[in-house]
Amino acid sequence: MVANGAGPVRGKDDVVASSSPDFVGGGAPLIHLAGLTKRFDQFVAVDNLNLDIARGEFISLLGPSGCGKTTTLRMIGGFEDPTEGAIYLEGQDITYDPPYHRNVNTVFQSYALFPHLTVADNIAFGLKRKKVDKKEITARVGQLAEMVGLADLVKRKPRELSGGQQQRVALARALVNQPKVLLLDEPLSALDVKLRKQMQLELKKIQREVGVTFVFVTHDQEEAMTMSDRVAVMSEGRLEQVGSPEMVYNEPATEFVATFLGAANLLRGKVIEAGQESWIVELGGGEKVAAKPSPRGQRTEVTFGVRPEKISLVGTSDERDVVANQVSGTVAQVVFFGVASQYLVVLADGTEVSVYQQNSSRTRSFSSGERVGVVWDPEASFSL
Ligand SMILES: Nc1ncnc2c1ncn2[C@@H]1O[C@H](COP(=O)(O)OP(=O)(O)OP(=O)(O)O)[C@@H](O)[C@H]1O
Ligand SMILES: [Mg+2]
Repeated sequence: MVANGAGPVRGKDDVVASSSPDFVGGGAPLIHLAGLTKRFDQFVAVDNLNLDIARGEFISLLGPSGCGKTTTLRMIGGFEDPTEGAIYLEGQDITYDPPYHRNVNTVFQSYALFPHLTVADNIAFGLKRKKVDKKEITARVGQLAEMVGLADLVKRKPRELSGGQQQRVALARALVNQPKVLLLDEPLSALDVKLRKQMQLELKKIQREVGVTFVFVTHDQEEAMTMSDRVAVMSEGRLEQVGSPEMVYNEPATEFVATFLGAANLLRGKVIEAGQESWIVELGGGEKVAAKPSPRGQRTEVTFGVRPEKISLVGTSDERDVVANQVSGTVAQVVFFGVASQYLVVLADGTEVSVYQQNSSRTRSFSSGERVGVVWDPEASFSL
């Protein structure tokens, strides 16, 4: 088993509650990024990033291509010097330490296995170089091969393995060094969708078993949400929001986060009444709805969002739910998926609202051109 701080035995301060939006490592963070900035000439690739990462946490850096994920990871790994700011590992400033002096390992997108070495020798490579005792090498390689599900394949060469199996070798090779932190840069992107989904679950399971802190880079929001304790959403070098998957999905802090993490209907309106618990907002078409108060405080206009799966459609003659918001619209488009249907509904002010409705035996279907009521619970919305 992997030993010490990186091992499977977790202290109580190692546990990261997956539901917590904020850093809850208890005590000092394992990694602390302080004002981390990277400029390439005039171009700012990473812009004043402040982030604490807890011991044992699975955190993803999520964002579109070019937003600075790899650059951030490379700075943590020691492959790139920051222009400004600092990186702390267990309270120690490691900003300018070379990669081999940090207790951090990286799994790159291209696994770069040694083609002439067997699986076992690939995994053992780092330990042999460190002149670890032979018996211990055999034991640790055996354990890691078992853990990543390669116990029967240790004598094979990389070319005799599938993509997913090669990925596991790369993972085992990095974990055998017992790093405090494992950095993974889109490690599953070369795999086909099915294998990728399977590896996501396995990778998460392995991470829980070894208790090593994973910093995982991906531009795939679903991947980030299924695997992570917390997701750090980045855009144009900046950190937009950090929180549990539920938090960044249900309570996005910015329009960018709202739309990057799945579909979001954004509605704008005038704030008529700003109560403590709820605001009354008048939409462009004159209809009034309730919305959550904006976390940014009092304002005269507000943008709020509702996810497509949190809206339902009703017929215009159906009885009205007094608690929920209801506005009227016209169905502009229907796409039938089998289990669900996606509706595009146009409201009085021209806003297009996307609605995702499960096709159960009780839900009514609507056709293009039909007048409908668009209904949602104010609690299921978020205000920006
Ligand atoms: N060595 C470099 N010199 C100049 N610009 C660079 C260099 N490395 C990265 N950049 C730029 O910095 C920005 C961030 O790059 P980075 O590789 O961190 O993005 P990313 O979020 O990992 O994107 P992707 O999802 O495509 O891998 C990009 O605009 C990129 O072109
Ligand atoms: Mg990248």
